[in-house]
Amino acid sequence: MHLQDILFSQGFGTRRVCAGLIQQGLVEVGGCLVQDALADFEPHGLIFKVQGVAWPYQERAYLMLHKPAGYECSQKPGMYPSIYTLLPGPLRTRGGGAAAGVQSVGRLDQDTTGLLLLSDDGKFIHRMSSPRHHVPKRYEVITKHPLDATQVERLLAGVVLDDSPVPVRAAAAEFVSDRHLQLTLTEGKYHQVKRMVAAVGNRVEALHRSRIGPLVLGGDVPPGSWRWLSAAEVAALSSAQPVVEARVCPSGLTAD
Ligand code: URA
Repeated sequence: MHLQDILFSQGFGTRRVCAGLIQQGLVEVGGCLVQDALADFEPHGLIFKVQGVAWPYQERAYLMLHKPAGYECSQKPGMYPSIYTLLPGPLRTRGGGAAAGVQSVGRLDQDTTGLLLLSDDGKFIHRMSSPRHHVPKRYEVITKHPLDATQVERLLAGVVLDDSPVPVRAAAAEFVSDRHLQLTLTEGKYHQVKRMVAAVGNRVEALHRSRIGPLVLGGDVPPGSWRWLSAAEVAALSSAQPVVEARVCPSGLTAD
């Protein structure tokens, strides 16, 4: 594949802009300056540098972002900056056209922190966000008032939300402390955690998503930063099983 086409596919601008970057001596491949825009390279596994910044060729982009509070998941945010401003330009423009760049898999509220997946693979986004696939998502929920066993049992048994014909229930719930609950959901309704907790007479003070399917947000991705997902992580997410955790009540009884 021509070097200018490789850069183009990765979001570095039009073919003409990419050819210009190469001809100006701003692109290195394998530690060597390449100034021929039509030089041929096998793209898979290629790492090149543009203006000194290393970039691995990715046919499709799959990444995780640690969303900080105070960011909106919209491309056109209303009040707060967009999460897309936390990503380098090429990730926002790759592919070109109307649906250019990576898109988030679902959304988190402006004040929610934690794990967000982004991709430019439409099938992956659909699979991960489709309610049919029930990919479990774990939230760290800090409540205003101490939680009691009845509240947690009601979250597991199901609560009525105004936009759902059937009660909505948590797949798993585990006490960390009396105001910190780990709640696993397999759906992604609007404000779902906050509304479920309100429905049992408590209130969410802080919300953080710590896990999606097998993928756990670790200390290697601090708030506001992102990293590529490995091929193994993408494969594990794509084959994530509906519910991985036992349903646990505070008393140690199962809810079923
Ligand atoms: N549930 C909520 O209430 N808010 C989020 O951001 C995610 C899940």
